[in-house]
Amino acid sequence: MEASYQKDLSHLTWDEVFARQLLRASLVEGWMEALHLQLGACVLDIGAGPGYVSLVLADRVGPDGLVYAVDRSADALAYLARLQHERRVSQIKRIVADATTLDSDELRPDSALVAMVLHHADDPMGILTNVARLLPTGAPAVVGEFHPEGPCEKGPPRAERVSPEQVQAWSVAAGFAVLAYCRQTQEHFMFTLQRC
Ligand SMILES: C[S@@+](CC[C@H](N)C(=O)[O-])C[C@H]1O[C@@H](n2cnc3c(N)ncnc32)[C@H](O)[C@@H]1O
Repeated sequence: MEASYQKDLSHLTWDEVFARQLLRASLVEGWMEALHLQLGACVLDIGAGPGYVSLVLADRVGPDGLVYAVDRSADALAYLARLQHERRVSQIKRIVADATTLDSDELRPDSALVAMVLHHADDPMGILTNVARLLPTGAPAVVGEFHPEGPCEKGPPRAERVSPEQVQAWSVAAGFAVLAYCRQTQEHFMFTLQRC
């Protein structure tokens, strides 16, 4: 557990957040499978942070696909911009925005990932409601979170974690059907959702 944990991540540098994303790298394949992510797909990465997961998603969707990396932190997305430049990855569009109010005019996502974000959010239900609004009917979405009964060796302290029951209730109220629940590790769980 992190003694100085701050919900807004101000206790960590973006280098440190990126390093923590790397520690969770094994979770990403399960998220992409649940999203049926293929070449040419267009996926929302909500709360992308410094972008490790966005880069993996970009690799999966290929040069004809698109990843919308959305984060309220301009600094986090500047970190991702540097990595995109170094690695010559153009199929990620970075959007500095609050996910509760992100608008849909220019976005045509066919799936959405909301991973390790809700416990940082001021309005987690608002995020899920807006993500549902941005997706077409039938589209898949994945929510990943830290389990409150996990060992809590890394990540948010137990008291800051959201329960699977809470995520399920928010998801259904936001307009999703729950297709599957999975405890990916002792520390992590995920829901596979479908936009109703
Ligand atoms: C732990 S970090 C990155 C998580 C990343 N999705 C992953 O799986 O590794 C969580 C990010 O969510 C962002 N975030 C929290 N609330 C948000 C909101 N309402 N809108 C957009 N981004 C938000 C934070 O700025 C932070 O960069």
